[in-house]
Formats: sequence, C-alpha cells, structure tokens
Amino acid sequence: MKYYIRTFGCQMNIYDSEKMAGILKTLGYEPARDWKEADVILVNTCSVREKPDQKVLSALGEFKKIKKEKPDAIIGVCGCLAQRAGYEILQKAPFIDMVFGTTNIHHLPKLLEEAKSGNKAVEIIEEIDEGEAELDKYPTVRENKYTAYVTIIRGCDKKCTYCIVPYTRGKERSRRIGEILQEVQYLVEDGVKEIHLIGQNVTAYGKDLGDVKFWELLYAVANVDGVERIRFTTGHPRDLDEDIIKAMADIPQVCEALHLPIQAGSDRVLEAMDRGYTQKEYLQKIELLKKYIPDIALSTDIIVGFPGETYEDYLETVKVVKEVEYDQVFAFKYSPRPGTPAAEMEMTEKPEVVSKWLSELINIQKDISFKKNLQYEGKTVEVLVEEEKEDGSLVGRTRTNKLVHLKGRNNLLGRLVNVKITQANRFSLVGEVI
Ligand code: 5AD
Ligand code: SF4
Repeated sequence: MKYYIRTFGCQMNIYDSEKMAGILKTLGYEPARDWKEADVILVNTCSVREKPDQKVLSALGEFKKIKKEKPDAIIGVCGCLAQRAGYEILQKAPFIDMVFGTTNIHHLPKLLEEAKSGNKAVEIIEEIDEGEAELDKYPTVRENKYTAYVTIIRGCDKKCTYCIVPYTRGKERSRRIGEILQEVQYLVEDGVKEIHLIGQNVTAYGKDLGDVKFWELLYAVANVDGVERIRFTTGHPRDLDEDIIKAMADIPQVCEALHLPIQAGSDRVLEAMDRGYTQKEYLQKIELLKKYIPDIALSTDIIVGFPGETYEDYLETVKVVKEVEYDQVFAFKYSPRPGTPAAEMEMTEKPEVVSKWLSELINIQKDISFKKNLQYEGKTVEVLVEEEKEDGSLVGRTRTNKLVHLKGRNNLLGRLVNVKITQANRFSLVGEVI
C-alpha cells in the first residue's frame, strides 16, 4: 500500500505532512514515487492567501483522475483550507473521501479506516482536540536527512487583522519541553545535524506553560549532544526581546540568520494591521540584533496594498527595506481572507497599482540580495552538506541560510565543511571545499 502527500503552505504544514507520513508508515504504507500509483492521496492545504486556495482545487482536479484507474484509492484533504472550509471543498469536489482539520491529525488512522469502508470520513472540529499530543507517539518521515523541523508551539494569539491563522490553527499551545527534547534526541540519533524549531509564533513559546521561556528552550536544545545547528521560525518582533537576542549570540549552534516579518513600514498601516509595534520599535530590534550578531542574515515578510495603504505608506516600507538590507524579502499582495477583521475594511488602491508597487519592491530587493551575496566572494564559510545531485555535485547551506553549490567529493553528505566561495549568483553561491 502506497501513499502520496502534496503539501502547500508553510513549515508547519510541511511538519504536519511529515507526521502524517509517519502515521501512514506506522500503518504499513510506503511512499509512492508518483500520485498515480498511490492508494492514499493526501492534500495538505494552505489558506493564507487566495492563490493557495485556488491551487488546492486545481490539484484536486488532477488527483480525481486516479479514481478511473483505481476506484478504491482514497483522496483526503487536510490542513488550513480544510479547517476553514472543509464542507465547501467537499461540495466543490464530491469525489473526496476524507476531510480533516489541523488539530486532529492524530485521528488519521481512524478516519482512513472509515473512508476505506466506503463512508465519507469528515472530522472538522472547532475546538482544539485535547488528545493532540498523541501525535508525539508517531515518527516523522523526512526528505532531508540532516536538517529537521521540530514543532514547538502550535497556533497563534496575535490576531493581526489580515491573518487567517488564528482561525485555522487556533490559540497558542506550547509543546512540553520534555517532549521537544526527546524528539530532538531521537532526530540526532537518526543523523540529523540541524534542528529547525518551528511555530507560527515561536518567540511566544512557553507563555501558556508559565514556567519556561523561549530562550531557555534554545539553551536546552543546544545541550542535546549532537545538535550542531539551531534555527527557528517564525519570531514576532513584539516578543523578540533582549534575552532571546543574547541567547542567540551566546549559543554557538544558533545560526546567524533570522526571519523577522515586518509586514509594513508605515506606522499607520502597522496600526491597522494591529501588529503591536511601530517602524521605530522594529528598527530598534534590528539594531540590537546587528549589535549582538554583526554578521546576521535577516529576512522578512511584507504585505503590499493593505486596505487604506497610500503611496506614501508604501514608500515607508521601501525605506525600511533599503535601510535594513535584508538578505531575502518575501513580499505579497494583500489578499482579503474571509472572517478576518481586515476583510471588512475597504480596499483603497487599484489592484494594478498595487501590482506595480509589489514588482518595484521586488526589484529593489533583488539588487540588495545580489549585493549581499557578492560579499561572500573569496570568503570561507561553514556549510552543512545536505544533498548530492545525480551529477555528483553537492548542495548545502551556510549558517546564514545561503544555498551553496559545491564540486562533488564523496563522504561529505551530512558533514559541516569549510568552503571557499568562488562565485556569487543572485540566489545561490558556488564554492570549493577546503
Ligand atoms: N494577504 C497577503 N499576505 C498575507 N500573509 C498573511 N496573511 C496575508 C493576507 N491576508 C503573509 C504575511 C505572513 C506570510 C506567511 O503571509 O506576510 O507573514
Ligand atoms: Fe498557510 Fe498559515 Fe496554514 Fe501555514 S498556518 S499552511 S501559512 S494558512
């Protein structure tokens, strides 16, 4: 019996898919090379903007064809769109056999049984499932052998006015530190070198537990023997305090890279988004980061065309982008999400104008990213070798999360090596092992 999982969206979804693969493995399934040979197809969906919504429906249209060859094949839809609009999807795509949400993934074995017996297996619960921690019982099946995601907190309490996440993933729930460390231990024993702690809002870790802070978790993870690198995403600027920044600087394994979404540069827009900081406060945090960790690589998320945003507001975002000099920027056009407060606000700028702002911003950043990459030429950096291509060449990442292509040499997979950068491209570096 074989499974195929198509994942849309963020790291949380990737991790959830790895868990679902783990559940299916436990049930005796093996991964299919292609969806056409699968007995179970799962589509793990995202709902953060309208585009991913549409992509899900077109993927389902494709997978539907499997029913001709294999009438008993099960098609399941899960993740954020399923949580938000599961019944709607079922109406649009009645051939689906199984629908479940983001907090009851551990019910997959039961749901699969039900679907196999010919019933529609639908379980979308509004409340967070009490038994969620049962998921800890299952292994993850990962594509990357040397770097692994570990969920430390689920949900988000921030309620930014544009964001669907609090509705699709519920309130913040931190995983117990013992469970996290046990998972890290297991991963290291399995050959993992780099631990990537993930959550919608990792810097809020522990608030609901009461007795532990995010920076304490960083130290605890670093103390697990064999952890060579630590990353975390995503932090919220409001919760990123000096204690966390000090720990980042102090712990050798914490990489010099941070994704810190600003969303907008204008105070007026930040206020309308309910982000809880001003441009000045955000820039103060950036300054502090650069003070403690001088060679830190920064990245961010930006939304362009929020309701009420004017050209002057947009220029504030451009100003920040130029001032901070991010290594990478993920910029998106604002997309109203059903049920969020911003969806009720009037859209004030024409879509064509917003598209122009967006492409201008992306072009500005392209040059900055290239300039940042050029600074690597001639330097020697530490690379974790993660992949060997068919032609024998190797691919790895620097501590600052830059992709590096290397001339092939055997026995380097999973190793941290020193690499001299010989060439910088727009999106990657080329180097030689020394
Ligand atoms: N419209 C556009 N972008 C959004 N994001 C979240 N919600 C929306 C929305 N309604 C972006 C934010 C967030 C990233 C994951 O997606 O920038 O950080
Ligand atoms: Fe998409 Fe947000 Fe869900 Fe991640 S949490 S899959 S970004 S909607």
